Amino acid sequence: MDKVKILDKEFKLFISEKRIQEVVEEMAHRMNKELKGQKVFFIGILNGCFMFVADLVRHLDLDCTITFLKLASYQGTSSTGKVKRLIGLNEDIKGQTVVVLEDIVDTGITLDFIQKQLRGYEPAEIKLATLLYKPEACRQDVSLDYVGIEIPDDFVVGYGLDYNGCGRNLRQIYTIIED
Ligand code: IMP
Repeated sequence: MDKVKILDKEFKLFISEKRIQEVVEEMAHRMNKELKGQKVFFIGILNGCFMFVADLVRHLDLDCTITFLKLASYQGTSSTGKVKRLIGLNEDIKGQTVVVLEDIVDTGITLDFIQKQLRGYEPAEIKLATLLYKPEACRQDVSLDYVGIEIPDDFVVGYGLDYNGCGRNLRQIYTIIED
């Protein structure tokens, strides 16, 4: 499929399934080399990361734990407005090497927030990995250890990424056709 319509928007093919798989495998191989001999705690950030994590971990040859966290928004006080919170971490990551797995880094605000929250659990080290990265959009000083593909500042869907909840099941990544 070269074009898809999701809700009211049209998208065109941007990154093929083959390219995605190559990039994911390459990243896993780098992790295998660089994290060899360590006990690694992988944390996928839901929802968008589920396909990326499922494919990545199949290539990992490390002593590791894999878990998923979610960012929940709730209404704070009138001064703080919407507050975000990381939910789902039941394991003790103190003193461990943690690798955060994200689907996409856009402004970088989410990853920056996640990193700050995780520091509170006192891991030995936090590494950041993302399949897609929009350098032109990134406003935070996040230092990414593993980047799959750098992309322009355009909206993309597929391979776990959604447009209003739809399109996550697509095997390839599509970019928006601006009208
Ligand atoms: P950030 O905080 O701006 O870096 O991005 C946070 C979240 O926005 C990501 O984890 C995605 O869930 C979502 N997001 C950012 N860009 C896109 C996109 O192009 N397509 C789908 N979701 C996106």
